[in-house]
Formats: sequence, structure tokens, C-alpha cells
Amino acid sequence: MSDAPILSGVNVVSDLDAVTDFERKHTPHIAVAAAGDRMHVAITVGHYVPHPNQADHFIDWIELQANGAPIARFDLSPIATDPKVSVVVALDAGTVLRAIEHCNMHGLWAAEVTV
Ligand SMILES: [Fe+2]
Repeated sequence: MSDAPILSGVNVVSDLDAVTDFERKHTPHIAVAAAGDRMHVAITVGHYVPHPNQADHFIDWIELQANGAPIARFDLSPIATDPKVSVVVALDAGTVLRAIEHCNMHGLWAAEVTV
């Protein structure tokens, strides 16, 4: 895949071992850990390959969805904030968590885990 802007749709990578660094650097990484009777969810963009964080190229928001419904959203600024966010949530086992991020140059990218 080239570095050409992606203007529509949500990009989802099914096999990180079979894609380019361009796709790896945009794919959100979701880490879930127990936090008492809740869960700590950490989302990082640039986990696999660092993503630029410059005035003209950066991650401007990250959203977390649970079974398709938004439950948290983070608006980010270039340079001042890294695209690494976390939140504590109360979810039932089997919930599908979806992290969606928006790169101001390369559009929407998502990843999912089931807790
Ligand atoms: Fe980008």
C-alpha cells in the first residue's frame, strides 16, 4: 500500500504480519487488564510502528466502542499529546471492544478485541 491518502471507510488490518509499516503505524493496539471489578483499557496508536506526531500529520482523535456503542472519546493535539490513551470501564465478559483512530492525513483505522 502506498502513502496515498485514504479518503473513505474504516481501515481494519486482519493480519499485522502481512501488511506494510504504513498500515502497522495506523492500527490501534488495545491492551486490556483487570482493575478490580473493572477493566483498564489502554489504546496506543504507533505501538507496532511509530506514527508521526507533527503539526501537519498526527492522530487527532481516538474512540472506544463497546458492542458498537461509543463509551469513550479522546480529542488529541499534535506534538503536545501522544496517541496513547486509557480508561477504566465496567464491561461484561464477551463484550467486543473496538478502538477507532483518525489520522488527519490517512483517515480512519480500527482494531477489535473481545474481553
Ligand atoms: Fe498517518
